Amino acid sequence: MARLESLIGLVNRIQRACTVLGDHGGGDGMSLWEALPTVAVVGGQSSGKSSVLESVVGRDFLPRGSGIVTRRPLVLQLHQIEANRSEYAEFLHCPKKKFTDFASVRKEISDETDRITGKTKQISNIPIHLSIYSPNVVNLTLIDLPGLTKVAVEGQPESIVEDIENMVRSYVEKPNCIILAISPANQDIATSDAIKLAREVDPSGERTFGVLTKLDLMDKGTNALDVIEGRSYRLQHPWVGIVNRSQADINKNVDMIAARRKEQEYFETSPEYGHLAHKMGSEYLAKLLSKHLEVVIRQRIPSIIALINKTIDELNAELDRIGRPIGVDSGAQLYTILELCRAFDRVFKEHLD
Ligand code: GDP
Ligand code: NA
Ligand code: MG
Repeated sequence: MARLESLIGLVNRIQRACTVLGDHGGGDGMSLWEALPTVAVVGGQSSGKSSVLESVVGRDFLPRGSGIVTRRPLVLQLHQIEANRSEYAEFLHCPKKKFTDFASVRKEISDETDRITGKTKQISNIPIHLSIYSPNVVNLTLIDLPGLTKVAVEGQPESIVEDIENMVRSYVEKPNCIILAISPANQDIATSDAIKLAREVDPSGERTFGVLTKLDLMDKGTNALDVIEGRSYRLQHPWVGIVNRSQADINKNVDMIAARRKEQEYFETSPEYGHLAHKMGSEYLAKLLSKHLEVVIRQRIPSIIALINKTIDELNAELDRIGRPIGVDSGAQLYTILELCRAFDRVFKEHLD
């Protein structure tokens, strides 16, 4: 287990190093980035995507609310650190700055969104890269995406509906992308944008996790058992029901720990979902995802080793071309990534023994 943890940690570090070198995974499908698993949240506007991500991370740091709040993709890398170290966050666009206050992380995401899009309702497909280092997270790369929508609102071009869908699709159509399909329980599942897109890009449902939010907002006398128990829409992985903070909770500054406790209580005391309480909620979702990621990485070991060997060769060639020793930044970054690849290769081989 410890070895697999370190494996996923290495995956994260290599993805980050690749990003620094300009490999954002948008290329020919052969990049290291694309060989490694990521998790993306998909769903309609205000379905609770940002809230679910925050719950999985266990910290408040994302801009949330009604309307189109998430307007650029946020690539979020979680790194687990030792229990005695204190947590912090870092943005790729300001690498020298350590954020220890998560309210300022949220502000920086908003500001950096505005820097590209202006204070408009426009979207941009240029991602923001954020790393969180904490003893309380599992090693995961998560991507928060703008919400799918059906109509353009004042201040948005007519093409926005399609633009958002295409942007989201460009992430979730990659075979290495694990899809967190978010649907609100207070809307008919048959109309779920998340399920519609997930079904299109992952018809067998092998990389889709169905997440049902807003269980607390369902009409009295109705429940979501048909969805949660897989009768409405069958997926290969179990559906997970979630109760995030309401807007009133957010306004009252209800903290994450209190919110999780409240969520757990909701399930344990629920006449409908009580029997499923141990398989519901954000903490369970985080564990489920982490476990799945390990399975996926295990399956990919041979192809990742092949890619890493190719990358090592390419990096060596690149270093030869630049000429050693190198004083410039890009050379130092190449060395870093090369070191990471070698470490990665070592851990994989140990793991195979
Ligand atoms: P996003 O647009 O999909 O990222 O959704 P947000 O996470 O920003 O949430 C939109 C709004 O719905 C916010 O006001 C949240 O407080 C609220 N919300 C999200 N999930 C839940 C839930 O499970 N229960 C309740 N009561 N409100 C929720
Ligand atoms: Na929103
Ligand atoms: Mg959002």
